[in-house]
Amino acid sequence: MNVAIRRATADDVDWLCGLLNDEQTEPFLAAARATDRDGIAAEVERSEREPRTFGRFVIEVDGERAGVMGFEERSERNRIAHLGGLAVHPSFRGRGVADEAARILQRHLFDELGFHRLELACYGFNERAIRHSERVGFVREGVQRKAYLRHGEWQDAVLFALLREDLDGC
Ligand SMILES: CC(C)(COP(=O)(O)OP(=O)(O)OC[C@H]1O[C@@H](n2cnc3c(N)ncnc32)[C@H](O)[C@@H]1OP(=O)(O)O)[C@@H](O)C(=O)NCCC(=O)NCCS
Repeated sequence: MNVAIRRATADDVDWLCGLLNDEQTEPFLAAARATDRDGIAAEVERSEREPRTFGRFVIEVDGERAGVMGFEERSERNRIAHLGGLAVHPSFRGRGVADEAARILQRHLFDELGFHRLELACYGFNERAIRHSERVGFVREGVQRKAYLRHGEWQDAVLFALLREDLDGC
């Protein structure tokens, strides 16, 4: 199995729209995230225009589209990037695709774009994403209690971060 990531292009927008609105994906993503075609197209265009501060990447498995992931610069001065919008198509889950793609993105952000700290947040109910984040080296830094209204209830946000030096020796 060959896992690769590449910048999303306008040709990917319809496929991304289908994935992000899938009933096995949408409930786990931030409510504020763009899931409409125009919003996704705007993000893809921004990713191409501002590659150092914003990214939308398609995950490919053996050349076939299998998922999406993204980042946004949170602090230029402190070299912090926030990761978000990770989703693997249901037919590709449970094989380590997300883990391998996450490691590729980490190296791109640290080694090529010069970030120093990567951050992400998961809903407290998203056990699969929490396990994935821990497997790929993220350190749990805290919980924002009942911070987001989702599915009609207040949800915790579990905060994770990864530093460049956390990967040393890997
Ligand atoms: C979160 C998400 C991206 C993780 O993808 P995934 O398929 O569950 O995770 P992976 O592809 O890394 O596979 C991991 C699972 O496969 C198993 N596995 C099998 N072979 C594996 C391998 N070679 N390497 C790692 N894990 C492997 C692991 O045991 C693991 O099982 P577990 O989650 O029950 O512990 C995916 O579930 C998803 O898209 N969810 C909906 C959207 C979402 O929640 N996004 C995150 C928002 S914060």
